[in-house]
Amino acid sequence: MEAFPIINMEKLNGEERADTMNIIKDACENWGFFELMNHGISYELMDKVEKLTKDHYKKCMEQRFKELVASKALEGVEAEITDMDWESTFFLKHLPESNVFEVPDLAEEYRKAMKEFALELEKLGELLLDLLCENLGLEKGYLKKAFSGSKGPTFGTKIGNYPPCPKPELVKGLRAHTDAGGIILLFQDDKVSGLQLLKGENWVDVPPMRHSIVVNIGDQLEVITNGKYKSVMHRVVTQTEGTRMSIASFYNPSSDAVIYPAKELLEREGVKDESEVYPKFVFEEYMKLYTAVKFQPKEPRFEAFKASEKSNSASAATA
Ligand SMILES: [Fe+2]
Repeated sequence: MEAFPIINMEKLNGEERADTMNIIKDACENWGFFELMNHGISYELMDKVEKLTKDHYKKCMEQRFKELVASKALEGVEAEITDMDWESTFFLKHLPESNVFEVPDLAEEYRKAMKEFALELEKLGELLLDLLCENLGLEKGYLKKAFSGSKGPTFGTKIGNYPPCPKPELVKGLRAHTDAGGIILLFQDDKVSGLQLLKGENWVDVPPMRHSIVVNIGDQLEVITNGKYKSVMHRVVTQTEGTRMSIASFYNPSSDAVIYPAKELLEREGVKDESEVYPKFVFEEYMKLYTAVKFQPKEPRFEAFKASEKSNSASAATA
């Protein structure tokens, strides 16, 4: 099997730029995932974020998690548990407005580090969107604009810890799903593995690498590229040893952004048959549906919006 795509971003500034852009293109089309090295975010800042995240988990989250799982004891359970995830999480919002200084229980130093890290990730996310535009032959800024709506893109972080689990065969850290949004940037533990993506029929490990940022494509980029880029199923498996840190930041459309396949792409690809065109919808509406069916395949979600588009245009025609 081909190797998981790893991008050395330094090479974008030299003679190997074209080859590196090609690896990104192939990753977006065939993996839905890739991993960035030399991405420009300071390793010192990443180390600080990691230390403070792990300290916060120990101090404020671990006990709460233990009490929660104690109430759902796995003793005597033999069938796979499909209605819970073995994870401890909290969320921070950055765009359109930050709540980093309002979320309770965070040390001041941690708030500041997360704020600084989010600014770096936001810049990296926007740079990546423009690299994708370049590969897609869309004008610079197209994707950011497509996400903007009236309030600008949404950016937020899910801070997760996946504690050791006595029965990894019975419960997932996070059940298989595709991500609903735009582009996702993940800072994951470099020692405890667990993230896997579905490639064809096989679950493939996303390799833990020190100071890397893992990137994946969400459902909205699949829609805008009319399926050229893929939002891929992924999951977290639990481990019996070690707690896995996962800091995932979501660069998503504004709630009122209207998402639809880029016209230029459809024309260039010669897509004429309406049945081959992905749907058009307001992102907020997509999220309402997604929340209810997150752990199901994405295709029925796209089909549902396609069907409602059709019935809307039929009723408009008869009105
Ligand atoms: Fe995800």
